[in-house]
Amino acid sequence: MRLSLAIWRSLYVCSLIPITFASGPQVNLRSGVFEGLVAGQGTEKFLGIPFAQPPVGSLRFKAPVPINQTFTGVRNATAFGNACVQPPSSSLGAPIGEDCLFLNVWRPENTSTDASLPVLVWFYGGVFNTGAASSEEFDGTILVNRSIEIGKPMIFVSTNYRVNTFGFLASASMAVEDLNNGLQDQSAALRFVQENIAAFGGDPSKVTIWGQSAGAGSVEAHIVYNASAGLFRGAIMDSMTGPFKNSPAPSTYDAPGKPFSLILNTTGCSAGPTAFACLQETPAEPLINFSNARVAATLNNQFWEPTVAPGSFSPVRASEIIAAGDFLHVPMIAGTNLNEGNSFSTSLLGLNLTGSAQDEAFDNFVRATVINQTLITSDVLDQFHTFYPANDPSEGAPFNTGDSLFDRAAAWYGDFMFLSARRRFLDVAASLQPTFVYHFREFIPGNNVTLGVAHASELPLIFGPVPAVAAVEDDLAITWRDFYINFVNDLNPGPAWPQFTNETKQVLQLKRDNITAIPDDFHSVMTDFDNSALVLNEWQK
Ligand SMILES: *[C@@H]1O[C@H](CO)[C@@H](O)[C@H](O)[C@H]1NC(C)=O
Ligand SMILES: *[C@@H]1O[C@H](CO)[C@@H](O)[C@H](O)[C@H]1NC(C)=O
Ligand SMILES: *[C@@H]1O[C@H](CO)[C@@H](O)[C@H](O)[C@H]1NC(C)=O
Ligand SMILES: *[C@@H]1O[C@H](CO)[C@@H](O)[C@H](O)[C@H]1NC(C)=O
Ligand SMILES: *[C@@H]1O[C@H](CO)[C@@H](O)[C@H](O)[C@H]1NC(C)=O
Ligand SMILES: *[C@@H]1O[C@H](CO)[C@@H](O)[C@H](O)[C@H]1NC(C)=O
Ligand SMILES: *[C@@H]1O[C@H](CO)[C@@H](O)[C@H](O)[C@H]1NC(C)=O
Ligand SMILES: *[C@@H]1O[C@H](CO)[C@@H](O)[C@H](O)[C@H]1NC(C)=O
Ligand SMILES: *[C@@H]1O[C@H](CO)[C@@H](O)[C@H](O)[C@H]1NC(C)=O
Repeated sequence: MRLSLAIWRSLYVCSLIPITFASGPQVNLRSGVFEGLVAGQGTEKFLGIPFAQPPVGSLRFKAPVPINQTFTGVRNATAFGNACVQPPSSSLGAPIGEDCLFLNVWRPENTSTDASLPVLVWFYGGVFNTGAASSEEFDGTILVNRSIEIGKPMIFVSTNYRVNTFGFLASASMAVEDLNNGLQDQSAALRFVQENIAAFGGDPSKVTIWGQSAGAGSVEAHIVYNASAGLFRGAIMDSMTGPFKNSPAPSTYDAPGKPFSLILNTTGCSAGPTAFACLQETPAEPLINFSNARVAATLNNQFWEPTVAPGSFSPVRASEIIAAGDFLHVPMIAGTNLNEGNSFSTSLLGLNLTGSAQDEAFDNFVRATVINQTLITSDVLDQFHTFYPANDPSEGAPFNTGDSLFDRAAAWYGDFMFLSARRRFLDVAASLQPTFVYHFREFIPGNNVTLGVAHASELPLIFGPVPAVAAVEDDLAITWRDFYINFVNDLNPGPAWPQFTNETKQVLQLKRDNITAIPDDFHSVMTDFDNSALVLNEWQK
């Protein structure tokens, strides 16, 4: 069940504006008055704004519920809210807690409520297992500063969403409307933006959603499925994943050895209708320990995945909707990096396997991308062996490591997970809506050569600041920022970036001193096979 905007609106209660002596910028939201802080570089920010009721207790594992509460007095919006439950990390920028449904807003300093600025909303990646809007690497200051500098001011919003056990646990015994609650959190944040961004000086009709990796898969999910229809008008996908690498039915999770069955085993909860109530009463710690152990035991760590079930957020397989062209027709930017697969393949480095042992390790790596591995057939694996043979110096490009297994796996993973996903969607979308495609080919000084033009390596350029060791990339970074700022304002990245069409098939190569349109023909034999019905069926895409 999804709430219409009208019902959503009616859940808010009007409040009187308290009289205060402001020391920071204030906004008057439906849930109360929030005071942010000046953030430097001509910007100000409002952090830790709750956009849904805390998903704790009886709301754990449930679809997000709108805020029905009005805060009295002025609420401090000067510190990030909790990061959602995940493994500890020094880069989260906030404590970890289940009460984590918070978003953050950056805007030009002193923006008036009638400014009607366009809005960019950011969804982090992290294989649906990790990520936090509070991470320092996702600070919106530099993007907003640049938007002012080029006369195209915008508002930047970053939002948390639940991940791992708390966002993506699935089972046939779970109510379908609660499945994929992590993705539903994103929709809830977008609804909150619709209701409240005008109070910040934003225009709710000019929202662009942007994500990278699992965040880009999320953006694609919001285009392919309908839950967020009307909540955004443009989309940017960095390293899109199609939208999901594998999207099995909830019952798959219940089979012996699969996630739901394992978690019942871990917690001692019994299967059946009471399972979720029992899991809601379990302390959070065993649930995250379970996830951490399973993630660590899964080759390339890709344990969590959205599910597909009739009546749910994602009622049918995405590839069917894509093939039918039956998705939201919003302008889009999408792209991939040259060596997407390398950072996912490092567990295979230095194993020194040859011959059939190497093939077997490669096959295990391929199979590890799905929950039900018996679906993967040997004819498909044989085809991958032909495409990605041992000791091929053209693999692992451009910094061929000489480690045959790593190079094969990295080449396969990049093509299969990212490039083929981008082509599967954009080749159809190109004839239905404006689309712009990039291929990032710049190795950034200071990065690990083995990882090449790695997954996520563009983010420090776009968000800034560009690390000193990579100062040579400053111009590319600014150009990239401007492309996105232009798109948020005008739904077009600017004249330097030709639209991707099925007639021209031109993608923009992003490389220092060589930003130029190139034909979209690389590795197309592989991606055509990846996008065949045979392969899409086996991977339940
Ligand atoms: C943007 O940031 C730069 C560098 O910090 C600063 O010089 C400039 O004044 C800022 N722009 C605005 C509009 O404040
Ligand atoms: C808000 O909703 C929660 C759970 O949905 C409920 O327990 C609580 O009573 C509600 N509060 C108000 C003020 O309506
Ligand atoms: C708001 O939070 C900031 C930073 O955590 C803190 O310095 C300040 O004292 C808080 N103000 C109020 C009124 O709580
Ligand atoms: C914002 O307004 C404050 C208070 O009027 C003022 O001190 C500050 O200089 C303004 N900042 C900008 C960037 O205009
Ligand atoms: C989305 O809505 C459109 C129009 O109502 C409908 O044709 C389409 O089947 C829906 N797609 C999904 C995935 O529900
Ligand atoms: C896994 O796939 C096989 C082959 O299609 C099927 O027979 C089996 O039921 C599936 N298992 C689960 C748990 O979905
Ligand atoms: C959990 O699994 C182990 C073996 O994998 C088994 O011995 C044990 O009985 C199971 N526990 C429960 C509660 O099902
Ligand atoms: C969870 O894992 C941590 C770190 O390994 C450990 O200290 C803790 O005891 C575990 N808790 C439970 C309930 O298993
Ligand atoms: C692989 O070979 C290298 C170089 O000879 C050696 O350092 C490394 O320990 C070997 N790795 C394994 C897993 O045998």
